[in-house]
Amino acid sequence: MSQDAKLAAFLKSKVEREKSARAEAEQLLEAKSKELYAANQKLTSSNRDLEKMVAQRTEELVFANKELTQLIDTANAPIFSLDTKGIINEWNQQLEKITGFSRNQVIGRCFVEELVAPADKPLMAEVILNALKGDETTNHEFVLLTRSNEHVDLLLNSSTRRDASGKTVGVVGIAQDVTELTKVRAEQDKERKEAAAQIIQASKLATLGEMATAVAHELNQPLSVIRMAAGNTRRKMVRGTAGRKYLTDKLERIEAQTERAAAIIDHMRMFGREAMEAPELVDPREAVVNALGLMGQQLKLAGINVVTELAEDCPFIVGHPIQIEQVILNLLSNSRDSLSESAGRPKIVLQVFADDKCVYIVSTDNGGGIPPALLPRIFEPFFTTKEMGKGTGLGLSVSYGIISDMKGTIVAENIDDGARLTIALPQYLIGHDDVNESSAREFKADSLID
Ligand SMILES: Nc1ncnc2c1ncn2[C@@H]1O[C@H](COP(=O)(O)OP(=O)(O)OP(=O)(O)O)[C@@H](O)[C@H]1O
Ligand SMILES: [Mg+2]
Repeated sequence: MSQDAKLAAFLKSKVEREKSARAEAEQLLEAKSKELYAANQKLTSSNRDLEKMVAQRTEELVFANKELTQLIDTANAPIFSLDTKGIINEWNQQLEKITGFSRNQVIGRCFVEELVAPADKPLMAEVILNALKGDETTNHEFVLLTRSNEHVDLLLNSSTRRDASGKTVGVVGIAQDVTELTKVRAEQDKERKEAAAQIIQASKLATLGEMATAVAHELNQPLSVIRMAAGNTRRKMVRGTAGRKYLTDKLERIEAQTERAAAIIDHMRMFGREAMEAPELVDPREAVVNALGLMGQQLKLAGINVVTELAEDCPFIVGHPIQIEQVILNLLSNSRDSLSESAGRPKIVLQVFADDKCVYIVSTDNGGGIPPALLPRIFEPFFTTKEMGKGTGLGLSVSYGIISDMKGTIVAENIDDGARLTIALPQYLIGHDDVNESSAREFKADSLID
């Protein structure tokens, strides 16, 4: 083969090879294009599916959100939400209803500062701070202010509000309107107090009835002094030996005794009155002295030696003076009854003293004491060991009520040969209690009637 023919053959075969390679490449390209087209189709379709799904999910979410808002809104409980700065960002219909503030009026306002009653602000601020720290509070009672500045009592459960990533974004409060309940409770409390006051009064009148004889004795003392002074003066005048000084002395004596008799009657009258006024400052030593003013003479005539040990300095207590006297009289009459049955030298010691917190009024007798088995029952109403018509069994139970109302305690124990009743009452701290300090009087031990 010639050189030319070889070249021509070579070129032909090269062209052939290139042709077939191109055909192969074109085939491949076509196949790839088809694959690409199919993939594109698939992608478009799945993209469409995805879009559909997202749209559906969004719709579901909007619906769920709407439902949740609706649920919160129409829930029969006041519900609100605050951001991390305590600013209101949710306020449901129930809250709109009970406060008169619409959602738009309160959103953006500070909950504690603008809607909580002043006295409840510090505690409420604490509850919210705790919720922001993750500590929930249950049944926190507080007063919410309404648009017309009235009060609504709410019982609140607070919890932390978090976003989807768990980050704290605020506080959710779900409450319960307890205004009516609080009113009913206050009403019941008032009724209970009134009933207790009636029992105190009834028992006091019983004491008073029992004391009629005692008071007769008390009055007898000044009357006999007056009678003696008048008789002596008359005799001296008949004899013509009554000098000016003598007459003045006797008349002064008569005057003083008349005053004492009037004081006893006055006190009796005051004792019968119901304690309606606000509590006042009471000197416990004065209560002891006044009680002895009503009963001291009777005890003396019964042969009972009454000893008083009254601390020189003694803080005031807060209460109704007549009620405290009533308690002391109950203790004295119980001791008198126990002493009337005991042999030996009957004695009652009344002590008043204080430590840095309390004032103590302690009554100790040597009347044989209280049978140990009865000790747990003596403060029960109507518990008495006395015969019919002698005791009602109300004395100690009423005393217990009076002392408890004054935030104090009264306990009974047996010591040596008798009983001891110890009353502990919180002492008045200047400016701490809401009492009229002008009721405080200076204690004069010489007012003790012997
Ligand atoms: N100092 C005391 N010594 C012995 N027993 C006492 C003493 N104080 C109280 N008791 C007992 O406690 C009981 C209850 O006392 P409380 O004063 O409540 O009622 P009462 O004295 O029986 O009746 P009331 O005081 O109503 O006339 C008495 O009946 C008595 O048994
Ligand atoms: Mg009694």
